[in-house]
Amino acid sequence: TSAAVEELSNEIQELLLNLPTEKNWDGTSLYQYQGCWNRSQYVSSTISFQRHFQAKESDIILTSIPKSGTTWLKALAFTIANRSRYPIENSPLITTPPHLLVPFLEVDLYTKIQSPNLEDFPNPRILATHVPYASLPNSILNSDCRIVYVARNPLDQFISHWNFLSGSQQQNMNLVSVEEAFEMICNGVQTYGPVWEHILGYWKASQEQPHKVLFLKYEDMKEDIQFNVKSLANFFGCPFTEDEEAQGVIEEISKFCSFDNMKNLEVNKHGTYRSFKNEAFFRKGTMGDWRNYLKPSMAERMEKILEEKFSGSGTTW
Ligand code: A3P
Repeated sequence: TSAAVEELSNEIQELLLNLPTEKNWDGTSLYQYQGCWNRSQYVSSTISFQRHFQAKESDIILTSIPKSGTTWLKALAFTIANRSRYPIENSPLITTPPHLLVPFLEVDLYTKIQSPNLEDFPNPRILATHVPYASLPNSILNSDCRIVYVARNPLDQFISHWNFLSGSQQQNMNLVSVEEAFEMICNGVQTYGPVWEHILGYWKASQEQPHKVLFLKYEDMKEDIQFNVKSLANFFGCPFTEDEEAQGVIEEISKFCSFDNMKNLEVNKHGTYRSFKNEAFFRKGTMGDWRNYLKPSMAERMEKILEEKFSGSGTTW
């Protein structure tokens, strides 16, 4: 990260010096900016995103803490919002991985000193971010653009993330054990964490502004994807017509974006996105995999923490 730090403007370097720090699972440093733990380069790109992004009313912003179903949400949102332009058999998702079609604002786009030009991005612009609600640019908060959040059981999200990093050999990572990583997340220390703050920030916003923020759960999507596909279309202002319903379009989109279909598309089996293999974004796609990694006592500990953090919020885990 020292090379990355060197690239930062003086202002950001100075800011970093004054932020609380912790070690990440791979021994690199995390910084706490606006309540959220992140690597220095993403603190920097978040600030650039906050300062320079200009939201449009037609924008759709997909949000999540990593490993909560972002890739799935990207495929769904893209397919639903663009369905009059691209019938499924011509979907750009057949030839382009979801993360290239729907880039992350702070991870992919605002990483350079110079801001990206997003004016030519096809309308509606479907863009993604992992930053917490409290760090979204004012431009997004003040515009009529739409925000979709996907949340996932924090234990599954944790195990998904741990596997994602431990499987990525390219980075030469020396990861701590799953027990040590778990200890850290119980203290709120994880990329884009604490996870409860991330979820609660968007949850509260969705309660206060239901027309602007749609809050989805990975588990609900697994249980009834067609219901959630309809909710997304309604939320985007392009509800399915009776004709579409009769033709089975909702079912077709649900199947096209399903784990099995996406995982088996050639385009997602090969190639890389940043330093990760595209296939790493499709691991198991199940619920409750944490049971294969964590002792019941560990799960109980996290459940207690979550119970306390979520109490009175109107939602639970
Ligand atoms: P697992 O590691 O538990 O399998 P993200 O997209 O936010 O990085 O999250 C990745 C997680 O979502 C992984 O979970 C991945 O397998 C799962 N996933 C990816 N595409 C999916 C899909 N179409 N349906 C269901 N789960 C999916």
